[in-house]
Amino acid sequence: MTRRRRAAANPAVRGYGLELRPWDNELAAQMARWGERGFPYHPFDMGYLRDPARAAAAVLVHQYRSQHRHYVATEAGIAVGRVSVNLEDGEGLYFWAVHVPPEHEGRGVCRRMLAVLIEWLERAMPGRDFALISNAFAEHAHRAYTALGFTVADTRWQYDREMAEGLVTATEGQVAALAGNIRFAGGRWEMRAHLFRRRPGAAMSVE
Ligand SMILES: CC(C)(COP(=O)(O)OP(=O)(O)OC[C@H]1O[C@@H](n2cnc3c(N)ncnc32)[C@H](O)[C@@H]1OP(=O)(O)O)[C@@H](O)C(=O)NCCC(=O)NCCS
Repeated sequence: MTRRRRAAANPAVRGYGLELRPWDNELAAQMARWGERGFPYHPFDMGYLRDPARAAAAVLVHQYRSQHRHYVATEAGIAVGRVSVNLEDGEGLYFWAVHVPPEHEGRGVCRRMLAVLIEWLERAMPGRDFALISNAFAEHAHRAYTALGFTVADTRWQYDREMAEGLVTATEGQVAALAGNIRFAGGRWEMRAHLFRRRPGAAMSVE
């Protein structure tokens, strides 16, 4: 068996006007051109894909069929969002890297792409809980998660290296906007984050 299993084995999933496809070079090239938000959403920005070497490496990593599956949501061939799921996390089927670029936000891409994945996972792996962790300030994301049947199961302080690095160069205004959701404790910056859980079969409001 080859060490790197082929992306073709990770099939596309469709629904709600979207096709969730595995990463490939062409989709990476589209994501390289996505608009960026900067701090405090900089960990999601995809500008690094404009470097051909980093793009090639990212495609390989995202195609590799480990416990993590990585999807790009497309609408008529246009990349409009991305999401990854860890199939073996202790908390459940665990979503991460939920990201819709600014030029496609506010028209339900997040809700629809998560709904497609949830419905597919409920068929493929019935009975599993869903989970994700989200920074407490990410309110747009929370509205989507709540609509899809997620509830806050826990709120915690956690260290996030990329956020801590971003805080070094953030403006006073950017830091002030996060008041209540960041703290300097034990010699490092921590972020307030919510653990969201969703029981299988929970009601979803998608569109
Ligand atoms: C959070 C994110 C994924 C939402 O994507 P999206 O496709 O715009 O989400 P949806 O269209 O499904 O909308 C979700 C909610 O946010 C609201 N929203 C989204 N963009 C908005 C905007 N520009 N202004 C006001 N509200 C907005 C929607 O109205 C919706 O709320 P509603 O259900 O009460 O109507 C996207 O903004 C993003 O990638 N943000 C940066 C990364 C991030 O925060 N990821 C989540 C980390 S856990």
